Amino acid sequence: MSVTERPAPAAGAPSDEDRSGRGAAFSSPEGGEQLQVVEPLIFAASRPGRRDVRFPAASSAARAAAASQPDVPPEALRSAAAHLPEVSELDLLRHFNRLSHLNHAIDLGFYPLGSCTMKYNPKVNEWAARLPGLSESHPLDPAELSQGSLELQWLLAELLREISGMAAVSLQPAAGAQGELTGLLMTRAYHRSRGEGEQRTTVLVPDSSHGTNPATATMVGYRTVTIRSNERGGIDLGELREALGPHTAALMITNPSTLGIFEDQIDQVVVAVHEAGAIAYMDGANLNAILGRFRAGDAGFDVMHFNLHKTFSTPHGGGGPGAGPVGVSERLAAFLPEPLPLLVQGDEEKVKRNAWAGRSTPGVRFALEAEGTRPQSIGKVRAFTGNFGMHLRAYTYIRSNGDHGLREVSDDAVLAANYLRVRLTDAYDLPYDRICKHEVVFSGRRQKHEHGVTTLDIAKAILDYRIHPPTIYFPLIVEEALMIEPTETESLETLDRFVEVMHEIANRAASDPASLRAAPTTTPVGRLDEAAAARRPDLRHDFGPPPVGRSAHQDAGA
Ligand SMILES: Cc1ncc(COP(=O)(O)O)c(C=O)c1O
Repeated sequence: MSVTERPAPAAGAPSDEDRSGRGAAFSSPEGGEQLQVVEPLIFAASRPGRRDVRFPAASSAARAAAASQPDVPPEALRSAAAHLPEVSELDLLRHFNRLSHLNHAIDLGFYPLGSCTMKYNPKVNEWAARLPGLSESHPLDPAELSQGSLELQWLLAELLREISGMAAVSLQPAAGAQGELTGLLMTRAYHRSRGEGEQRTTVLVPDSSHGTNPATATMVGYRTVTIRSNERGGIDLGELREALGPHTAALMITNPSTLGIFEDQIDQVVVAVHEAGAIAYMDGANLNAILGRFRAGDAGFDVMHFNLHKTFSTPHGGGGPGAGPVGVSERLAAFLPEPLPLLVQGDEEKVKRNAWAGRSTPGVRFALEAEGTRPQSIGKVRAFTGNFGMHLRAYTYIRSNGDHGLREVSDDAVLAANYLRVRLTDAYDLPYDRICKHEVVFSGRRQKHEHGVTTLDIAKAILDYRIHPPTIYFPLIVEEALMIEPTETESLETLDRFVEVMHEIANRAASDPASLRAAPTTTPVGRLDEAAAARRPDLRHDFGPPPVGRSAHQDAGA
């Protein structure tokens, strides 16, 4: 991969001297290697004996305890000092802060990445997550010491039940895709329990579904059959009815779909699936579009998963943890993963009423369901009860918005997407020209066919305006797709700025296409071979000869 030529470093950029620490090396497709230092490695700042923290001398009791430990076997002892950077706290802080600004981030700018619902990380979530009683709790604490965490998880499951209309919810899955896996494992267990496990071998997946849907079905051992969308972007009912039969295990439908379109024949879809004896699965990861407006349970779905890290803030674009709870109808409740958090003493309605009013209820008790309580359970899909930190943040988000607030969230998300749809239709092709939900999918085919500028070029150019590009080339059914999801959290000024940028790029495609093909030019690095960067990262560093003058502390392998 080549590193695009860069203009001279701006004032304050690392000098050649600073670059002795080699920041990052990028090899070119021709096999050469080009070095571009955007931030020297921390080793460049290392000076013998420099420290960020100093530990107090060990107490005599600690020394005596250490002396009584069995000797470390010689083969496990370090023969040479570890190569650790020796830096001050300030050097360390500045290094990592500078590194954190090399990437685009939701805290730095607009992030309309379709299908990811990149809303912000509300600070109140982080405040709640740091409350010592919650942050210091441990999943192995006995129930008497975990009443608060158990109550929170029970309440969150109740809230999700209410939001989705499903009969029961498990918080255990750690991501949307794992929620899907859990849903299909329950589907399989359900068919097996009825003696139809062998017969029901296929899962139907509309072509506008998220890619994880067919992938999950395949993982569970099902054959996937793709159902085409009609000209309006909805499911082709005729094709669905033809594909359904005694061999169908489930239909997995992403609703609203990856085209940002709500399936307006949803009632007929669910009826047809049930008539065939199959399970109706709704991928609910796009719930941000329909909060307070549509409930999968009311429509008759048997199972849906939530992406807490999309709908309820804390997006995981940075690779952070997620949570993909699943909700099920009565039909599948026996198969849910165990254990569920339970209210074992106290009146449900009273506990909820009090909790919503910010009061605790005296005399209540919560516990985790005992193993084997539900013999048909598919078992655990994740250690303990899932990603508690994410449950806590989603709970905080839901409570801080309230029921009216959540409906407003969806209304505003839909309004923002439609605002962009209307304002950008003059510049980009709109394959499905209808009111959308949370995201709008344009096509860059005009720019490609008329000016030789691809959607990839457009996405790279957007980076130069300090905006994260939309999702591109997905969904697969749209040529040169540009999938834009603004979310409800952005101001009108931000949306207008995005419109301005997209118009400017469309004009540049016509007047100066080469400039778009060379983009980005203002980011720390230019166009990378992303596949090679992910699959063959070069993370080796040549330390050279061992440093002189290392401290005794360091030589002890600290
Ligand atoms: C519609 C849809 N389904 C499923 C998923 C998978 O979720 P995850 O990335 O948490 O596994 C996503 C991811 O954003 C999604 O947008």
